[in-house]
Amino acid sequence: MKLITTDGPEEFAAVAAHYLMRKVDEKPDLTLTLPTGSTPVGLYRDLRDARRMGDFSLDHATVFMLDEYRDLPSYPEGSFIEFLQNNLAEVIFNDSTTVVTIDPEAPPHAYDRALDEAHGLDLAVIGVGRNGHVGFNEPGDDFSARTHVVTLHQDTLDANFAVVSRSDRPTQAITIGMPDLRHARSVLMLVSGSEKRAVADLLAAGIIDDRFPATHLLDHDDLTIVMASELLRKS
Ligand code: GLP
Repeated sequence: MKLITTDGPEEFAAVAAHYLMRKVDEKPDLTLTLPTGSTPVGLYRDLRDARRMGDFSLDHATVFMLDEYRDLPSYPEGSFIEFLQNNLAEVIFNDSTTVVTIDPEAPPHAYDRALDEAHGLDLAVIGVGRNGHVGFNEPGDDFSARTHVVTLHQDTLDANFAVVSRSDRPTQAITIGMPDLRHARSVLMLVSGSEKRAVADLLAAGIIDDRFPATHLLDHDDLTIVMASELLRKS
């Protein structure tokens, strides 16, 4: 595992963007996942800028969504597909890039078929939830399951829907499973945001702990973690 700690949101985004652009340079037709959440927002801004400058494109790539809410009352508002549209429209929603979206109504194995047809992931770019979830592989989930439906944990809902009333929140999501993330040729794990100290400490120390799904990627052969340095600072 390679751990890169960064100071401030600009450096965090720049390091992640540099890594991703290098991977695309090496293999322009790569298959990759892209995560949602607040963590990758600066990375996506940098990718949009690089695309505008003509320095980067995902024109030959295939992008897989990591996850999607399943019973979101306001769908597509507040969904992950909407997030990607808001943050990466010109980079991935164009005539060239292939984007494989998760249809929350479709049976999960349809997504596995698409992953298999693409020969799996070259690069899994993932964020980490406060409780250590990756995609929506929540603590206690079946880590041998491929794409599957999960019941969202209360702390995940509180983190992702802080200002949304309970009746307007989803209860379930569909997510790529741990096996496909573990089999990705390379993994870029992005860790930033407050309230992630517990999982950040374990990741930095290289400790696999069942309570934090992200740590189950620590024995991956090609794992790079970009982590905001304040998460490791002792208060
Ligand atoms: C969501 C997504 C994850 C993401 C996580 C972290 O729940 N399912 O893929 O990594 O949130 O979110 P944030 O970056 O906002 O902390």
